[in-house]
Amino acid sequence: MIHLYLACLFTFSNAVFAYHIGTPIKTNERPIIGVLAQEVYDPPPHRNSYIAASYVKFLESAGARVVPLMINKSDDEYRRLFKSINGVLFPGGGVSLESSGYSKAAGIFYRLALEANSNGDYFPVWGTCLGFELLTLLTSGKLLLSHTNTSGIALPLNFTDDVRDSRLFKDFPEDLMKSLETEPLTENSHQWSLTTENFTKSETLKKFYRVLSTNTDGQNEFVSTMEAYDFPIYATQWHPEKNAFEWTRPYIPHTPSAIKTTFYMAYFFVNEGMVNTTTTEQHKMCFY
Ligand SMILES: *[C@@H]1O[C@H](CO)[C@@H](O)[C@H](O)[C@H]1NC(C)=O
Ligand SMILES: *[C@@H]1O[C@H](CO)[C@@H](O)[C@H](O)[C@H]1NC(C)=O
Ligand SMILES: *[C@@H]1O[C@H](CO)[C@@H](O)[C@H](O)[C@H]1NC(C)=O
Ligand SMILES: *[C@@H]1O[C@H](CO)[C@@H](O)[C@H](O)[C@H]1NC(C)=O
Ligand SMILES: *[C@@H]1O[C@H](CO)[C@@H](O)[C@H](O)[C@H]1NC(C)=O
Repeated sequence: MIHLYLACLFTFSNAVFAYHIGTPIKTNERPIIGVLAQEVYDPPPHRNSYIAASYVKFLESAGARVVPLMINKSDDEYRRLFKSINGVLFPGGGVSLESSGYSKAAGIFYRLALEANSNGDYFPVWGTCLGFELLTLLTSGKLLLSHTNTSGIALPLNFTDDVRDSRLFKDFPEDLMKSLETEPLTENSHQWSLTTENFTKSETLKKFYRVLSTNTDGQNEFVSTMEAYDFPIYATQWHPEKNAFEWTRPYIPHTPSAIKTTFYMAYFFVNEGMVNTTTTEQHKMCFY
């Protein structure tokens, strides 16, 4: 009885939020992850937004159900959708970080996620490439990005010392960690990056995110993987979903280790979506 009572109190204290984050309690085997759409550059008729299929396959391969989060919806609609999902993914792409439907919707989901997580729910957020860049803006309130020569190259990761204590990588197999460090398994398609220097200069980002890996374009070192200290928020400047599911570019790696990388990243994030959720099955059943 006393034990139960304490457990309840603990759920609502910050101290135990950290415990909660480190030791996920899996209670939901039917996770639903929302993937955010974005504007099409040069729209063909009747097609003005899209979601790349690889993000959907990425999540489904690890046991999630996926729903599209369309752009240009009302705040109320996003609030309603938020209550019906267990996590959200902001994909890569090429739209404005400040004035697109993508960035506006992402901002709403980001703030709802911070609020939910602060109130004892567990709502994971993932940002890939453009999604990574947007998270740095949403967290710091500033565009701190620099131009890098990284638009079409696979790289090995330079892990930081913090990687050993990270939630994201701590359960990866040793041989995969070795491969990630020595083989070009992470595909980069970006012209902007958060340099380690600018990251270090931002007190807000430094307090919020633990840097797990960096890379360099030969000129500037930039952050390539990070996770938030106190929230289930994860971001990669590189594309974990492409290795297994995209065939359009010669520099996308498809080696066995590259495919394993896709799988372990997806497995990690979908598991985050299986942690305690307050949404009811009834909410989840009635989508579009
Ligand atoms: C979103 O709204 C803008 C105008 O506010 C419009 O130009 C654009 O086509 C809309 N996109 C979608 C996908 O609805
Ligand atoms: C899930 O989180 C809610 C809100 O904090 C809490 O009331 C509930 O007990 C938690 N459920 C589990 C199984 O941990
Ligand atoms: C840091 O960010 C600013 C933009 O706020 C940018 O102009 C500058 O080049 C960046 N510096 C480095 C070293 O990346
Ligand atoms: C950009 O990087 C590529 C290798 O990925 C290299 O071949 C090229 O020379 C670089 N360009 C510049 C302007 O540094
Ligand atoms: C890793 O860091 C070292 C030292 O800064 C650098 O020489 C190397 O190019 C980096 N590797 C990659 C793949 O970015």
